[in-house]
Formats: sequence, structure tokens, C-alpha cells
Amino acid sequence: MHRNSLTYKNYIISPVEDFSILAGFSCINPDDPDQDLNEFVRQDAEQHYLDKIAVTYILKDKRNPNIVLGFATLQNDAIIIDGKEQIPSIASYEYKTFPAIKIGRFGISIAYQRKNFGTLFLFMLKKLMLKANRTGCRFITVDARRIKKQKIDTRPFYRKNGFSDLPSRGKTSTYCPMYFDLKSIVDAHERGLLFTDSASEQ
Ligand SMILES: CC(C)(COP(=O)(O)OP(=O)(O)OC[C@H]1O[C@@H](n2cnc3c(N)ncnc32)[C@H](O)[C@@H]1OP(=O)(O)O)[C@@H](O)C(=O)NCCC(=O)NCCS
Repeated sequence: MHRNSLTYKNYIISPVEDFSILAGFSCINPDDPDQDLNEFVRQDAEQHYLDKIAVTYILKDKRNPNIVLGFATLQNDAIIIDGKEQIPSIASYEYKTFPAIKIGRFGISIAYQRKNFGTLFLFMLKKLMLKANRTGCRFITVDARRIKKQKIDTRPFYRKNGFSDLPSRGKTSTYCPMYFDLKSIVDAHERGLLFTDSASEQ
């Protein structure tokens, strides 16, 4: 088992090394003019991995290991506190930047969307970040996809998963920066609210 893999119930997340498994992956409907996510995962994710820019993880059901349920591309990041940002939980530190990991790209296979796999994947990534990190990493960041013209807005999905807006980075017409505080999971764990079932982790 790869050091950066994590198993939860019947599901596993692990870094991709053989990118051919993603050749037919699609998380965007064919009639959507913005095919960036599909193109990235099929064409560019491997080069990002080889150039050490980003690592792509996939979510699979161990009972159906040939099906990729979703992918997430991760890279190092930092949240810069520049006056606009107010993150009360770290206010006691005088640092200007705080360590984070960015979900650069994220998608659930079309046939499996709105079945809680995105939520499961984020939950497992949060657990992985708390378990396997060799260095300090306090936040997860993401640029939530939002395309006003097409009435696409993934912020409600991230909000449901504990993410908040990150105003200092500024929105664009296609995304809104957000963050999740990993310490909130540790706190919830300490209060006994999480991880109470017999998750098997490797
Ligand atoms: C956005 C995405 C990752 C969510 O994954 P998912 O497995 O479909 O989401 P879940 O089933 O875990 O959703 C949980 C809740 O989040 C909200 N939600 C999920 N997808 C949403 C979306 N596209 N827009 C707004 N809210 C959404 C809903 O409230 C949902 O609960 P409900 O289905 O009971 O209403 C997935 O739909 C996807 O891959 N979309 C296309 C690519 C994309 O936009 N990626 C995000 C890039 S930042």
C-alpha cells in the first residue's frame, strides 16, 4: 500500500502513477463549452506529476477497482495574510503566510455525481492531510468553479463541506477562492464527533 493511500470503508484514495486509467474519465457534460477539467486530467495531469507541479489522486471503490469515481489534483500552497484576510483561529500567530495544500483540480465522474462521492473524497483527503503530512499544513484551499453565464456555482458544495470564502485572493468570472481549516477536524475529533467508526487506514 502506497504511503499516501487511504482506505475508508470500501473506498480508497491513492496517487496516480499510471495515467492511462484516466484516459476515458469525464466529469463535465460534453455540451459544456468549458472542458478544461476533462482536458487537464486526460492530457496534462501526467506532465504536472512528472514535473513535480501537482500530484493527482483518484477515488475508487475497492469492489470495482477499474472504475475511477473521481480525481483531485493536489499541490502545495500558502495563505497570505495581507490585511484583508481575517482568520480568527490563527490570529495569535504573527506570520504573514500559513501553510496550505491546494486542490488545483477536482471532479467526480458524471455518472457518479450527486451521490455524495465528492463529499466522501474531500473527507478522505482531509483525513489524509492530517495523517500523512511530513510538514505543517493547516489549510486546504480550492478555487471553486463558478460560471455565472451557465449558472454553475460549486460554492454550495464546498460550503457544505466546511469551506469558507478566501476574500484576499479575489474572485474571477470563473472561480471563487475558498479554504478549509484542518484544525477544525482535529478539534471535532477531540470532541469525539468524527472517525468513530472502524475506518481502516493504511
Ligand atoms: C462539484 C462536484 C465535485 C461535487 O461532487 P458530487 O459528488 O456531485 O457532490 P455530492 O453528492 O457530494 O454533493 C453534496 C452536496 O453538495 C451540493 N452540490 C453538489 N454539487 C453541486 C454543484 N455542482 N453545485 C451546487 N451545489 C452542489 C449539494 O447540496 C449536494 O447535496 P444534494 O445532492 O443532496 O443536493 C461534482 O459535481 C463535479 O465533479 N462537478 C463537475 C466538475 C466541477 O465543477 N468540479 C469542481 C471544480 S472546483
